[in-house]
Amino acid sequence: MYNLKTMQQQKQQGQKIVLLTAYDYPTAQMAVAGGVHYLLVGDSLGMVCLGYESTVFVTMEDMISHVKAVKRGAKDAFIIADLPFMSYATVADAIKNSGRLLQEGGAAAVKLEGGADFTSQIKALINNGVPVMGHLGLTPQSVNVFGGYKTQVADKKTALKLLADAQALQEAGVFAIVLEMVPAQIAELVTKELNIPTIGIGAGNRCDGQVQVFHDISGLFTDFTPRQAKKYVDACLLIQQAISDYVKEVQEDSFPSPSNARCIDNELLEQIKNHLESC
Ligand code: KIV
Repeated sequence: MYNLKTMQQQKQQGQKIVLLTAYDYPTAQMAVAGGVHYLLVGDSLGMVCLGYESTVFVTMEDMISHVKAVKRGAKDAFIIADLPFMSYATVADAIKNSGRLLQEGGAAAVKLEGGADFTSQIKALINNGVPVMGHLGLTPQSVNVFGGYKTQVADKKTALKLLADAQALQEAGVFAIVLEMVPAQIAELVTKELNIPTIGIGAGNRCDGQVQVFHDISGLFTDFTPRQAKKYVDACLLIQQAISDYVKEVQEDSFPSPSNARCIDNELLEQIKNHLESC
């Protein structure tokens, strides 16, 4: 059983921490069956499940509905849920919306994007019993400020800011920090500086753990695989093949076969036919 304590122990013992996003009942079941340690209901669901242009459009209602489905698929898993864009702009919003993710959704913790500017929200959440995960580097909810999905740590100033933000988040009490699209050497520096685990995505292999998007590793996100991901299977291709086989078999009348059908016995059929004829 994985929880906050085991995550900290994994860092101390040098055991890699494995997170994967899950968005619904089957993806949660598959992630747990595959041995993933912790599940993240990321707001990436807006793009990979709902077809939104960015995570900015994700609502609390979207999040709660998906967290509930993940919880049904993985009752014992430690589920971290993203606080969506603008849902933690104030301390009051952060408390209200995190409460909903835990109470209505069944999450065990929340994740929010941002550095030192968000320490009031983080401290208030922890004081109210909500474990918080941080997220630094490329924070997709700020895509409109960044002007695209590009690394935000590219020089000495931005690297030092990342380190300072990571320290501020640790002091505020987060249990771990996601480092997204951070140069590998900087991610390693942050990892060595902190007592809490770092979880990388596009941040090299020296973080304490890794997180990936379910659709990216399974090849379900149409024809695009981001650089920070590895496609372990082309599930899209496999599923499309299965669908075209189904279409073909229906058209040529080889599906359903007798083994896919239910039949009644001939005597009963005769009785029904006789009844119809007598009417
Ligand atoms: O929303 C998400 O899936 C995430 C991961 C990329 C870390 O935040």
